[in-house]
Amino acid sequence: MTNPAMTNNVVNLAGQRRNTYDVDALRAEFPILSREVYGKPLVYLDNGASAQKPRAVIDAVRHAYEHEYANVHRGAHYLSGAATEAYEGVRDKIATFINAPSRDEIVFAKNVTEVINLVAYSWGVDNLHAGDEVLITEMEHHANIVPWQMLEQQKGIVLKVIPIADDGSFQLDAFEAQLSDRTKLVSVTHVSNVLGTVVPVKQVVEIAHGRGINVLLDGAQGIVHESVDVQDIGCDFYAFTGHKLYGPSGIGVLWARAEILEAMPPWIGGGDMIEKVSFSGTTFAEPPHRFEAGTPPIVQAIGLGVAVDYVSAIGMDLIAAHEHELLTYASSQMSEIEKLRFIGTAEGKAAIISFVMDDIHAYDVAAILDREGVAVRVGHHCAEPLMDRMGVEGTVRASFGLYNNHADVDALIAALHRVREKLG
Ligand code: ALA
Repeated sequence: MTNPAMTNNVVNLAGQRRNTYDVDALRAEFPILSREVYGKPLVYLDNGASAQKPRAVIDAVRHAYEHEYANVHRGAHYLSGAATEAYEGVRDKIATFINAPSRDEIVFAKNVTEVINLVAYSWGVDNLHAGDEVLITEMEHHANIVPWQMLEQQKGIVLKVIPIADDGSFQLDAFEAQLSDRTKLVSVTHVSNVLGTVVPVKQVVEIAHGRGINVLLDGAQGIVHESVDVQDIGCDFYAFTGHKLYGPSGIGVLWARAEILEAMPPWIGGGDMIEKVSFSGTTFAEPPHRFEAGTPPIVQAIGLGVAVDYVSAIGMDLIAAHEHELLTYASSQMSEIEKLRFIGTAEGKAAIISFVMDDIHAYDVAAILDREGVAVRVGHHCAEPLMDRMGVEGTVRASFGLYNNHADVDALIAALHRVREKLG
């Protein structure tokens, strides 16, 4: 049986309006933050890879499985109706969260990688022809490089790369210089997962639209670090994932303008994306279902809906302000550490700090930080061409989330001093 009271409690807990940014109170809502690793308090600074989950999300996932689970859009029974209502309700929440004009513009997928492949293999296959150009930047994640390279091989499109500045800034003049009569799509990150650079997306869109070119934004990090309004940005496609936004893994979102989605052919065929199937021919469902073949990530979507309620109740602007304050605090202390070099110092960057210690291998730095309880990411961060551009093999990356505090930064700094003590 469903338990409406429980549902309301879960939603209310996540949706309660908060009056102040009380980081200690927020931390208390993330159970994992109270654990220790190697006998030291966990200092979680790997939010760019995946964020931890608040109790409200964990409870919502558990509640869905315990009380409201069945397949969606299919059954004539009570539970299927309840699960369908919960799953479809998340589309409304997401539409509100990113200010999309319509819930039907919200397509669920697995993650950003899948979303960009969806656009490449549906919109791209229909709209891109041999010689047409897709523009990306030097700081893209592999998810926004490889699908276009695959279309290069399959269709003969041309992938062009906008150079970034040495500090990691996006350069509008370099962008404009790459545009041509053959440019059909500008597909760029909103916020770099390595450098923290925030791309001036409104200007990019204005320039691209002035020439009739569509714009896709990889919002994997953008959705986390600032308030996103797709109508204000004006882009054509926006992609993000749930697990970096304090929701479950296995759920991602494509937002695209209705007229674009309506004209896009399906990319994966099967159940739940059709209107009528017969051996003489099949017709397809309207968006968004046309792009959601098979049983979808039902409970993951429900968890994402609660995560969206959760961050909305805190306020994305307050989260961004808190993270910026931590970024300033951390950057100023890290700059005192001998031979530590930041990779990515663009003005107005988001709270993602990549760095190298010139005389110590990045993996050695990360290994010592780990033993001190400090979780960071190390390596190429799925952005190998960017590593080449910045002249490094890899970096150490500390990426901040809504629950990080000054004590986390202090622990990072102490651990970096420990690296110096141990390895010179
Ligand atoms: N894209 C994720 C990261 O930057 C996994 O770590």
